Amino acid sequence: MTDSQHNSVLIIGTGTIGEPLIGLLADISDQVGIDEVLFHKRTPRLEDRPKVNSLIRRGARLCVDEPVMPEFKAKGLQPEYTTTEALVRARVIIDCTPKGCGRENKSEFYRHLDGSAAGFIAQGSEFDFGKMYVYGVNDEAFRPGEDRYIQVVSCNTHNLAVLIHTLVLADGRDNLAQGQFVCMRRANDISQSSEFVASPTVTPHGDERFGTHHARDAYHLFQTLGLELNLFSSAIRLNSQYMHTIWFDLQLRRPTTLKTVIQRLEENPRIALTNKMSTNLVFSFGRDHGHYGRLLANTVVCLPSLQLGEGGGRLRGFCFTPQDGNSLLSSIAATLWLLDPAGYRKKLEVLRPYFFKEV
Ligand SMILES: NC(=O)c1ccc[n+]([C@@H]2O[C@H](COP(=O)([O-])OP(=O)(O)OC[C@H]3O[C@@H](n4cnc5c(N)ncnc54)[C@H](OP(=O)(O)O)[C@@H]3O)[C@@H](O)[C@H]2O)c1
Repeated sequence: MTDSQHNSVLIIGTGTIGEPLIGLLADISDQVGIDEVLFHKRTPRLEDRPKVNSLIRRGARLCVDEPVMPEFKAKGLQPEYTTTEALVRARVIIDCTPKGCGRENKSEFYRHLDGSAAGFIAQGSEFDFGKMYVYGVNDEAFRPGEDRYIQVVSCNTHNLAVLIHTLVLADGRDNLAQGQFVCMRRANDISQSSEFVASPTVTPHGDERFGTHHARDAYHLFQTLGLELNLFSSAIRLNSQYMHTIWFDLQLRRPTTLKTVIQRLEENPRIALTNKMSTNLVFSFGRDHGHYGRLLANTVVCLPSLQLGEGGGRLRGFCFTPQDGNSLLSSIAATLWLLDPAGYRKKLEVLRPYFFKEV
């Protein structure tokens, strides 16, 4: 086996998504057949030194661009590879850079690695990067060897998608008359020091058909399964740093009962249920019991908020989004699928302890 055939995974970016993903992959690498976890840090910053050193202590290997290698060393950090070397070593590359960079990296770097790597994964906002994905929702849309560019959709799109998949499509592919969602987003990530909002701030309905990108992305996600769903979303940012909250309104063609709804929610291991009514209580549970504070569920459904009206044909309620947890789960699922399409589900069992049925 040559170096390039080792199961090396390279994560680019050490921000809100990259940092926990690097740590989690390093923690489970032995159990899931990953030989090395490489990570790319762009900027040599003194304030980031403890984070980088902690990830190195957990077993991940730092790579940086050659011109800034001396600056990293001068700050007491020890890169093991240049970016060029890491790109060649990696079998899977997970791009966790801000919006727009992933697509640029695809055309500038990834396309030229097509022969050596099993695949490339981007996050949330990278529309047009690759096939959209939520673990457990559209896995059957993926073709080994063919699908090499994967876009793990945003955290709120995960939430929309799992609700539709579990509560609507279980009763038929044509069961959704209309799905409407209001995404109430936290002001900024707790790892960010900028962009906080002082009061509720609405997001324009930039998309004529879908409202915001959440419904648009969910539409494209379900299109990978041959479905054309009628979806609309709105978004507002709230002056909270805890969790996103989503209000949903699902109009069904086939009436259901609340008992069936709850049973379906209980049966999906990637859905957590809660009787808690506020995001700080749910967030606090994650901080104490999740992986480094993160819940990996796709959604946390607020049970007391569920309301079934119009003869069982209209389901409304609230749920909370484990924002930087659900995309971690799908990113790891996509990585393991690219490396081992036949065995990835079994390997993912290592994350079971972080799937809570009740929060
Ligand atoms: N935040 C969430 O809850 C969330 C949830 C789901 C999906 N997403 C998506 O995940 C992606 C990353 O978001 P994030 O919140 O993790 O971003 P972030 O916290 O701003 O972190 C971005 C990271 O990318 C690095 N970076 C920036 N430009 C780069 C470039 N040109 N080349 C290489 N590295 C670069 C930065 O490195 P330096 O600091 O070293 O310069 C930083 O480590 C976005 O597409 C976002 O939409 C985010």
